[in-house]
Amino acid sequence: MSHDDRPGVGILLVEDDPLQQQLVSELLRAAGHSVRIADGEAAALALLDTPGLVLVLSDFRLAQGDGLSLLKSVRRLRPELSFVLVTAYGRIEHAVEAIQAGADDYLAKPFERQALLLTLDKALRSGRLRAENQRLNQALGEQEGLIDMIGRAPAMQRLYRQIQRLAPTEATVLIQGESGTGKELVARALHKLSRRSDAAFVAVNCAAIPEGLIEAEFFGAERGAYTGAQAARAGWFEQADGGTLFLDEIGELPLNLQPKLLRALQEGRITRVGGAREQAVDVRVLAATNRDLKREVAEGRFREDLYWRLNVVGLDLPGLRERREDIPMLVEHFAARAARQHRLPPSAIPRSLLRGLMERPWPGNVRELGNAVERLVLLGEDADSPAADTAAGRGRDGDVRLPAEGLDFEALEHSLLQQALTRTAGQRKRAAALLGLSYKTFLYRLEKHGLAEGKEPEGGEA
Ligand SMILES: Nc1ncnc2c1ncn2[C@@H]1O[C@H](COP(=O)(O)OP(=O)(O)OP(=O)(O)O)[C@@H](O)[C@H]1O
Ligand SMILES: [Mg+2]
Repeated sequence: MSHDDRPGVGILLVEDDPLQQQLVSELLRAAGHSVRIADGEAAALALLDTPGLVLVLSDFRLAQGDGLSLLKSVRRLRPELSFVLVTAYGRIEHAVEAIQAGADDYLAKPFERQALLLTLDKALRSGRLRAENQRLNQALGEQEGLIDMIGRAPAMQRLYRQIQRLAPTEATVLIQGESGTGKELVARALHKLSRRSDAAFVAVNCAAIPEGLIEAEFFGAERGAYTGAQAARAGWFEQADGGTLFLDEIGELPLNLQPKLLRALQEGRITRVGGAREQAVDVRVLAATNRDLKREVAEGRFREDLYWRLNVVGLDLPGLRERREDIPMLVEHFAARAARQHRLPPSAIPRSLLRGLMERPWPGNVRELGNAVERLVLLGEDADSPAADTAAGRGRDGDVRLPAEGLDFEALEHSLLQQALTRTAGQRKRAAALLGLSYKTFLYRLEKHGLAEGKEPEGGEA
């Protein structure tokens, strides 16, 4: 590869010998680079912020300071810069030291033009790699808050992107999804990835607050505000000051408290129960519900103004049955976790069982899957009991028992269609036969459940 077609870069030449300064800088400039010159360590450090600088080429021995100590400073101050140390011919120990201290390469003096340019080329390449790595590490660091979330299905990737976009903002987010889909995990991720992450994350379960105390719990109370209030205390808003207040199961919030919550959200100010003074609080609010809040509004159980205040941005979490491809990964995760928790040797869930796990409807979503896998780890295959299957209506010899608690027929049909498709690797005619349906009826039902877009496997059917 030729270096001549690469664009020039900014190079800092650190050299105390005027003759060498001139020689080397001319070579570099002729190759298209722009060159700054420093004659010692201090002068070099003063030039580290030169715009466009990407590489330092320094002699080992300098009249003032030395190249090795300059290298160490550069690694600390500008770790992304490429660094090439020039050592005296035969002083291999210097070269070794330089590499150990983080130089990209070394060059033994005297050197030829070609050797110089090749070495610089290589150092620039490794500098670019280092920058790329740093960027990736940073991206990973940013994902750390998401790292507890498992799943690569398109719906999850979209969710991760939304979380990343929303986390640094002050937006109130309403997280909706069925039970066990990970709403609380999402709320924690939004907090962890925000600039509020060092302050408190206060999680409040609105369904579990004793009715009489609810206002004091939210806004705090002054001493003597109610019987038993022997000392003043801060409410959740104050505890979350500077941080995040997570209102879980917001759909359960009593109607009479809703206007007070709305006012606190709109004004960013609260008054303790029994207090006379308003105080400002800096709180970001996240809320979650597994109810259809819009319907709650329509039916008069939730205030519309509060709904709109909370639902500035909505995040909808997919049900597990909408991302079955993530099940193997989740199973592996939960199996490892259960083994750790119960001090059992880690062991894989057999493939035959995994198949069954992938086909179930999972009304309790990830939480239910996690519990099922824990049972499997503890009890082995015996844990895969019929009890867990009744919801799917699976029985022997095709006799489907209606569970005592009833079932969701649409979900059952959806699940059966999907199971038939999975079992026949997507071959529709065979799947139809498996369900005792005509091909036409089968297609009609696929359409009805939005399962018809899937492509037929190559050569699957004549
Ligand atoms: N994507 C995921 N990856 C790994 N674990 C998950 C994921 N989603 C949920 N879980 C786990 O499943 C369980 C339930 O999650 P979480 O409590 O966040 O659900 P939820 O939506 O708040 O449920 P509920 O409405 O019942 O309160 C937790 O143990 C959580 O760690
Ligand atoms: Mg929850």
